Amino acid sequence: MQGLISKMTVLAAMVVATPVFATAGAGDIEKGKAIYMNGKGDVPACNSCHGQEGMGDDAMGTPRLAGQSFTYIAKQLADFAQDKRMDTVMYVMNTNAKGLSEQDQKDVSAYVESLDYDSINPSDMNQVKELGNPVGVRYLGKGIVMYGALERGIPACHSCHSFNGRGAPPMYPMIGGQKYVYLVNQLKQFRDGTRANDAAGQMRVVAKQMTDEDIYNAATFLTSAPRTTIGNSGWPENKIHH
Ligand code: HEC
Ligand code: HEC
Repeated sequence: MQGLISKMTVLAAMVVATPVFATAGAGDIEKGKAIYMNGKGDVPACNSCHGQEGMGDDAMGTPRLAGQSFTYIAKQLADFAQDKRMDTVMYVMNTNAKGLSEQDQKDVSAYVESLDYDSINPSDMNQVKELGNPVGVRYLGKGIVMYGALERGIPACHSCHSFNGRGAPPMYPMIGGQKYVYLVNQLKQFRDGTRANDAAGQMRVVAKQMTDEDIYNAATFLTSAPRTTIGNSGWPENKIHH
């Protein structure tokens, strides 16, 4: 009897412990939220540049983070920390990532993945113009995103980034609903090789074929690209928790 009770006690303890293991995972959302909102050590709060809701800012050239997967965000932070990707816009992300431990990076990535994915918060194209940025033609960009320009060697963005660029985690980031200025910067950086942290050079091959006009057109469409249509109403499985 004694033996049975102690076995049952052990069993009960394991059942109670299970949710603890499940939430521990690779990243702790609450700890990540604290970093995002308040910073940590010398690393400033992420919300000061990426916004309270993680929606990004065209005036600063910061990306929207809300809607990206844990795996993609964690990869970018690791790449910044190891100087495999350089922030040549505000020159802050390499220092920021280095100031976070690997666990901190996972925690903040888990928090980012928990942010609102559904809402579209497109760039204000009037503001973008007032900031002095050239803009493109939306329907021409839609053509590139959906079908590419095969005669010029540009594949459909859709083929990797999924419908209207809504993302295909873990490998392919969400580019639909992203900030315009950031999209343009990244495409130009992939084109000239300033950004070279894409596995197998997949994005550099694509961007090398794009003219400035292609880039402005694609970004003009992408920033306000709807995630669903009547004919394609399914939501992607974006929330892959680790
Ligand atoms: C002082 C402003 C600033 C702060 C603070 C800041 N960032 Fe950034 N972040 C940027 C800029 C600018 C870029 C874009 C760099 C580029 O275009 O190459 C960026 C890019 C990123 C990216 C790449 C996103 C993508 O889509 O590839 C991630 C991830 C990121 N930041 C996470 C964070 C986290 C997490 C924090 C807080 C620990 C943080 N940032 C704090 C300015 C900032
Ligand atoms: C063959 C697959 C492939 C195709 C086709 C492709 N991409 Fe990508 N793209 C990638 C990969 C992989 C990454 C992520 C790189 C990394 O891990 O840092 C990426 C990243 C990006 C980024 C950076 C996102 C961010 O948050 O920093 C942008 C912008 C982008 N792609 C735009 C486009 C556009 C526009 C097209 C169509 C003209 C396109 N891509 C077609 C594979 C592809």
